Amino acid sequence: MLEVTGLSVAYGGIQAVRSITFHVNEGELVALVGANGAGKTSTLKALARMLDTAGGDVHFLGRDITAIAPHRLIREGIALVPEGRGVFPRLAVAENLAMGAFVRRDKAAIAADLDHVYSLFPRLKERAGQLAGTLSGGEQQMLAIGRALMSRPKLLLLDEPSMGLAPIMVQKIFSVIRTVAEAGMTILLVEQNAKLALEASQRAYVMESGEITLSGNAADLLGDPKVRQAYLGE
Ligand SMILES: Nc1ncnc2c1ncn2[C@@H]1O[C@H](COP(=O)(O)OP(=O)(O)O)[C@@H](O)[C@H]1O
Ligand SMILES: [Mg+2]
Repeated sequence: MLEVTGLSVAYGGIQAVRSITFHVNEGELVALVGANGAGKTSTLKALARMLDTAGGDVHFLGRDITAIAPHRLIREGIALVPEGRGVFPRLAVAENLAMGAFVRRDKAAIAADLDHVYSLFPRLKERAGQLAGTLSGGEQQMLAIGRALMSRPKLLLLDEPSMGLAPIMVQKIFSVIRTVAEAGMTILLVEQNAKLALEASQRAYVMESGEITLSGNAADLLGDPKVRQAYLGE
């Protein structure tokens, strides 16, 4: 579904992503793990067309998307849940969710998807009228994921969904990510928390200083002594 070949991203003279190659098959949950500063967010932003690429190809469903306008990407079926969530703080929860569906016209299907998001996150239903800026961090993460789902994406890009959240909230968020994945959603999950990400995913790539240094089956990587030492603190 997603085929990334030799992707590079640079900020001025600084190369944050150095010619990385990876892919995500339809229906897979693939993790991209690595320490702070490895280049994970830059990679996702380049995929979501929020950053220009400094080289390489990105094909989505067989189509080159490296030159597509960012606002068109959501129509193509790619939704990004950004690091730090990016909810609209002065809009209510329900309004944030409605914004996620702004490219859609099928009212009945939108209503059904809203019900689905509320069933995944009952907390959001309870707080439907509350301003998003007054939600806790975990609730804002739920809202950001819910808003992305409202665009009915084919590919969901998640940037550090566990960041800054209490363990109980991380469990809740990851349980929903698994549910969404099991229902068939294709997901590229970026996480600094390698253990969580490897446990949730089928395959994974490890990024270090802008390069992919390891890849494979998530279960194999979890058992890899190099991964355990560098990322699982063992
Ligand atoms: N807006 C920016 N301007 C300049 N350098 C940046 C910017 N954003 C990120 N970088 C640099 O790019 C590298 C990769 O950052 P990032 O993609 O955010 O990594 P990660 O998400 O893995 O923590 C880091 O060295 C970071 O300092
Ligand atoms: Mg990041």
